[in-house]
Amino acid sequence: MVRVRVPASTANLGCGYDTFGMALGYYNIVAVEPAAGFSCTVRGEGEGRLPLNERNLTVRAAAAAYEAAGEAMPPLAFCCENHIPLSRGMGSSSAAIVGGIYAANVLMGEPLSADELLALATRLEGHPDNVAPALRGGFTVVAQEAGQLFCRRLPVPDGLRGVLAVPGFPVSTKKARAILPRQVELADAVFNLSHAAALALALAQGDLAGFGAMLNDRLHQPYRFQLIPGAADVVEAAIAAGALGCTLSGSGSTMISFSEDDDMLRDNIAAAMREAFQEHGVECRILFLKMDNRGVCLF
Ligand code: HSE
Repeated sequence: MVRVRVPASTANLGCGYDTFGMALGYYNIVAVEPAAGFSCTVRGEGEGRLPLNERNLTVRAAAAAYEAAGEAMPPLAFCCENHIPLSRGMGSSSAAIVGGIYAANVLMGEPLSADELLALATRLEGHPDNVAPALRGGFTVVAQEAGQLFCRRLPVPDGLRGVLAVPGFPVSTKKARAILPRQVELADAVFNLSHAAALALALAQGDLAGFGAMLNDRLHQPYRFQLIPGAADVVEAAIAAGALGCTLSGSGSTMISFSEDDDMLRDNIAAAMREAFQEHGVECRILFLKMDNRGVCLF
């Protein structure tokens, strides 16, 4: 049997739309083993809702890995233990894909390289910024050039912590992408470009205050905040409570704040985020997380 652990992830980090990702210390477990016949079970998030046949995303991803390696997929038993909430901007679909292709690659004797796994996962997901941290851990940057992916990662400094406010309602990534404008102002493009470059350099230098200060965005958040009542107030409240920064996690609905101070996260920032959401009638679950620097691994 192959048993793998896959981290959740937060994509975009504000200014890095479809580019930046960070792996979160919060995991799904996928176990896959050869069996007399195909089977699939899902426990936890998505139980009773996710398909248990060949349309299951983890199963489809495993099948795609076998196909990419030119091998026929044998009958396999899949067991998905899901902790990552669905459609909340925490990379649940990327975790499902990465779990499937990674487990399949191990079962085949690892014919696919790390770059091939990333390319395959990106093709299945449609964008690279959640699958890259799910595969490699840490902070990842992915650019596409001449049809090839260029991925670089940095380990996240140990002291960085996140608090996530996870609303009770989902946001469909498809819808959250469809509402974005096709064209943007040059000034907004420059704002994001400068913030993204500065954010990556700040993180590389271990400057967490600089990292937090650069989490702002003008390309997607202003539009997506229309789908998430109270989101702009959550950012303001979190920063007023001492957060290094606060941003939409992926395409939402989750908001994520960062801090180096555990007490401040628990006592001030989480409460401020929860109250700001409550003022708009939004109930949320709070998660305190470390970042993950390992990525998907055998478990
Ligand atoms: N970059 C993607 C988006 C991430 O913002 O649509 C989705 O989680």
